[in-house]
Amino acid sequence: MINRRQFIQITGAGAAGLITGSMTSLLKAGKANAAGNISSGFTPDLDIALKATAGEIPILPGNPTGVWQFQGRVLKGDRASLASLDRSYLGPIIRARRGQKVRIRFTNEIADQTIVHWHGLHVPAAMDGHPRLVIPRGEDYVYEFEVRNRAGTYWYHPHPHGLTGSQVYGGLAGLFLVSDEEEETAGLPSGEHDIPLVLQDRAFDSSNQLIYLSGHHMEQMNGFLGDWILVNGQPDFILPVATRAYRLRLLNGSNSRIYKLAWKDNSPLTVIATDGGLLEKPVQRRYVMLGPGERLELWADFSRYAVGSETALVSLPFDGGMMGGGRRGRGMMGGSGYALSNGTGFPVFKVRVNRPAKANLTLPQRLSTIKRYDPADAVNREDPKRFHLVMRHMAWTINGRTFRMEEVAPEERVAMNTLEVWEFINEGGGMGMMGGMDMPHPIHLHGMQFQVIQRRGVQHEGYVDEGWKDTVLLMPGERVRLLVRFGDYPGLFLYHCHNLEHEDMGMMRNYLVEGKTSAA
Ligand code: C2O
Ligand code: CU
Ligand code: CU
Repeated sequence: MINRRQFIQITGAGAAGLITGSMTSLLKAGKANAAGNISSGFTPDLDIALKATAGEIPILPGNPTGVWQFQGRVLKGDRASLASLDRSYLGPIIRARRGQKVRIRFTNEIADQTIVHWHGLHVPAAMDGHPRLVIPRGEDYVYEFEVRNRAGTYWYHPHPHGLTGSQVYGGLAGLFLVSDEEEETAGLPSGEHDIPLVLQDRAFDSSNQLIYLSGHHMEQMNGFLGDWILVNGQPDFILPVATRAYRLRLLNGSNSRIYKLAWKDNSPLTVIATDGGLLEKPVQRRYVMLGPGERLELWADFSRYAVGSETALVSLPFDGGMMGGGRRGRGMMGGSGYALSNGTGFPVFKVRVNRPAKANLTLPQRLSTIKRYDPADAVNREDPKRFHLVMRHMAWTINGRTFRMEEVAPEERVAMNTLEVWEFINEGGGMGMMGGMDMPHPIHLHGMQFQVIQRRGVQHEGYVDEGWKDTVLLMPGERVRLLVRFGDYPGLFLYHCHNLEHEDMGMMRNYLVEGKTSAA
């Protein structure tokens, strides 16, 4: 377990290396991990060097903050494929088109072992960033894959077992935006009117260094929560806009915080996309729940606001199901307490309408085509696989099991190109558990986008299940049924809770896609 002091040391010590280490080390791609070595038959449209390294960046006024960050550079292909966010620890935004072949030469320059996962992308098992593929400091891993996903807001982050929480928290995360023809003809705001917004929370000590887990077990059981809300790595974020429509791409990149998003003036949210890209048509919600790992895109039209006025995106209060006797209280977690518990309301960012727009777009009524899976086509239509999210021996588990590097249980074997019904059940109890230990769990499947076909036990209206998903939030008492088609890539993939502290303590399992590739 990395405690606060160690964390500061790790990030601080590496900062000097950032200055002396040059980009030339990024070009030494020869010493790649065997599993991901550069193959001669792969001609990339886009070839990128990406490294994880330590650095310092000003976040709060005063001392800069020691962070880890991804830094990248285009070796071949469109320079605009990488865009850095201003003054942010976040990694460069990677942009690719559907059908493009991408090579990413990743170098680990941080002290920990690590590996990168492309969250939401459908890639071969060896390219998926499974924790068994970790590389130590100084080594490279070469990723090569074709972008097969539809247009959408995907992201990338480390995935070493037990260390994902600390590394993402330390700053290692970035967006991976995929475009395609269908999206381009949808009539959506583009260019400077297409705005990525990564929501995260952090805690800082008095010298502006990041505080992570204090070592108290309850903190891990709940998931770590910071009391500063950062948008694209910045506190007190203000979005300047003109009086027109925008596309806002929201990623919840927080370790464990859930957002109940709404406009400050109570006007409804217009949602146009979920994890796996555009919905068929826009939907409206008074508020939306966004769990860790999930994405949601909004159509936000500021044309009815006067120049000079302000609004805000807020997170409304809700019952965050925190453990430790009472709920949503302060100072009960063995004395550590949270200044901003899961479910406390707060402003996320301000919107400042600062200029008139010459033109505007109208909201398209048709956004994309989604082919619906038919439950009757599922191989286990009569008998959904059930996954209980339960606590056992003071650890979060899936069906009573925690992560073992290569272990696959019978219900975790699936056949290539088959459709299955999976049901996740967050009803606590059962399996000899103590009562009253219910918590939210955002469940994520690697490699595949799925369709949510049923929810039970839901007490609110904040879900958007109309589109493709790779992460689905289950609040306490809920169960979710989904249809997932296991694709054409055989091998070991993960499914897990995307509360990163839960994941690190083992609320993660493998699933194995069995079958031969057609080439074999
Ligand atoms: Cu975004 Cu397995 O993770
Ligand atoms: Cu993932
Ligand atoms: Cu969880």
